[in-house]
Amino acid sequence: MSEIKTIGVLTSGGDAPGMNAAIRAVVRTGLFHNLEVKGIMRGYEGLIGNEIIPMNRKSVANIIQRGGTILKTTRSEAFRTIEGRKTAFENLQKNKIDALVVIGGEGTFTGANVFLQEHGIPVLGLPGTIDNDLIGTDFTIGYDTAINNVINAVDRIRDTAESHDRVFIIEVMGRDSGLIALRSGIGVGAEAILIPESETEIEVLFRRLEEGRRDKSSRIIMVAEGRHAGGFEVAEKLKERFPKFDIRLSILGHIQRGGSPTCMDRVLASRLGVAAVEGLISGHKGEMVGVVSSNIHFTPFQNAIKHINEINPNLLRIVDILSL
Ligand code: F6P
Repeated sequence: MSEIKTIGVLTSGGDAPGMNAAIRAVVRTGLFHNLEVKGIMRGYEGLIGNEIIPMNRKSVANIIQRGGTILKTTRSEAFRTIEGRKTAFENLQKNKIDALVVIGGEGTFTGANVFLQEHGIPVLGLPGTIDNDLIGTDFTIGYDTAINNVINAVDRIRDTAESHDRVFIIEVMGRDSGLIALRSGIGVGAEAILIPESETEIEVLFRRLEEGRRDKSSRIIMVAEGRHAGGFEVAEKLKERFPKFDIRLSILGHIQRGGSPTCMDRVLASRLGVAAVEGLISGHKGEMVGVVSSNIHFTPFQNAIKHINEINPNLLRIVDILSL
């Protein structure tokens, strides 16, 4: 029999579409198993500030389709300190919270891991980030919506690029990961995709543009923000090398993170939310709950946050083939 009576849930780090679906799943699964569920506002910052609210069936009604997070989010500096984490633990005790579900990315899990080691509170993490940069899940909550946001934006850009015979450099988010650029780049039929994990350097891009078909009227080049040279530098270098090309730069920015989550993200978030609560009840702690090859998978926090610079080489290869 599990000792857990009350679960706390929070979102932390950059918001991601689908976080609300995950909160809903955590709350409803908790209630299903006769637990109390409390929402912690503004991530670890709200835990330290004791901004804790009761959650019921109705508090998560009609949120599955909404982007952002109803619990709000922060990147807490105070939680990086021993004193901050001590105050956070005292507030958990005051609110009789026995276990935590934290929804976020690398920074969220790093904090959760230290918190568990210092105070022994059972905590499980759900991967909520558009970057898809965690080990132990095929996809993170928010990634599918973000790449769909990117392709919708770039399809529009393609219309104008095609009309003017222009080369467009598109810079997308991803922090240190090129996975948003890679999948959305394939999805829009990009000429080239520059990501931190591969060696497609500017010289390679020059060669491709020189050797490639001259009769193309528009070209889309995707650049991941985490590269040493971002979209601006790539655009400048291209202008210098190809003065006859009509080149424009578009940095998509936070538009990628907003909007209603896709069905894939809603279902992923729902599955993971259920699995997190049931995982806590069955004694799991200190792990991220993910989906690997369609199955629920638990990965210790310290392994989930190891950034591995490996990318499926087949995805890169098809970019080369299809940009013919
Ligand atoms: O981690 C999600 C993310 O959107 C990254 O892709 C990006 O580098 C970062 O957050 C942007 O952070 P902020 O919203 O604080 O500008």
